[in-house]
Amino acid sequence: MKKTITLILAFLLLCFGLSACTDLKDNNDDNDGGNENSSPTTAANILVAYFSCTGNTENIAKMIARETGGALHEIQPQIPYTEADLDYYSGGRADREQADPAARPAIANSVENMPDYDVIFLGYPIWHVQAPKIIYTFLESYDFAGKTIVPFCTSGSSGVGSSADNLRPLAQNADWKNGTRFSSKTTESEIKAFVEQLNLDLKTDTNMLKIAVGNTTLTASLADNASAAALFEALKKSPVTIEMQDYGNFEKVGALGFSLPRSDEYFTTEAGDLILYQGNQFVIYYDTNSWNFTRLGKIENITASELRSILGSGNATVTLSV
Ligand SMILES: Cc1cc2nc3c(=O)[nH]c(=O)nc-3n(C[C@H](O)[C@H](O)[C@H](O)COP(=O)(O)O)c2cc1C
Repeated sequence: MKKTITLILAFLLLCFGLSACTDLKDNNDDNDGGNENSSPTTAANILVAYFSCTGNTENIAKMIARETGGALHEIQPQIPYTEADLDYYSGGRADREQADPAARPAIANSVENMPDYDVIFLGYPIWHVQAPKIIYTFLESYDFAGKTIVPFCTSGSSGVGSSADNLRPLAQNADWKNGTRFSSKTTESEIKAFVEQLNLDLKTDTNMLKIAVGNTTLTASLADNASAAALFEALKKSPVTIEMQDYGNFEKVGALGFSLPRSDEYFTTEAGDLILYQGNQFVIYYDTNSWNFTRLGKIENITASELRSILGSGNATVTLSV
């Protein structure tokens, strides 16, 4: 009986893994909204570093980056994993690495400004109930003394188990939070609750703006101009709630209730741009439009389709705060 259950579990794991591998994510895709190798502009100098071959961990990492305003960093293997490499219980590359205590797969890229980060979210898929060995390589590549590390993982069905505990000796001087496993059905509001319960000691940054929409809070960086500075000062006094309407199939727009100085220029928007229109209208762009308007800021780490689904198709009520 026990043997039958084990076989069924192994079969289910195999099916999940195989179906996930038929659509390997592009490991060299650098158009992921990441902030690699540039100085952090985030609220608490947060880095969201992750390794992901089939996109599950990447989705969670992006949600954490959106929620925290953290910079995204994909840990890219020097030799990308092929479908055959990931075919587990086949004796393939991933199986062999996980079975070899000395395996340390090389990493192609690096975090140049690691000393600047205070909090590192570290994401990985569960491979044979542990973190992939490339996570060991990553942890041995930097000095994490005094930093907070928040491990998180995705899996077919296994929990976080001992995977995070077994990483601790690799960065002994860090403050490790407990590991958390996320399913592929995890919502933005679950990520928000996860981040809140961590009670991270976040530094505030005059460069950041929060946009609450339903259960989601998006973080945006403010533009470097007098208009954004005036908005920041207004929001310091009190948050502002705006009733926004959908317009042109590319934006949500609504009255701020007060005017800001204009620094209009002609440009083409992209998803995530925050714009001041006619001095008193706040606009969130989820698609492109070319016009004369003033930049107020940008929601980082978000694609057009992600932003569309968060804002919904019709009217939206958003609350801005700092
Ligand atoms: C080599 C290998 C071993 C795996 N071992 C497990 C496991 O022990 N338990 C489990 O639930 N899932 C296991 N999986 C499934 C992955 O954890 C799961 O598909 C994960 O979400 C993939 O994340 P990614 O899309 O970010 O690469 C394994 C996958 C691979 C490739």
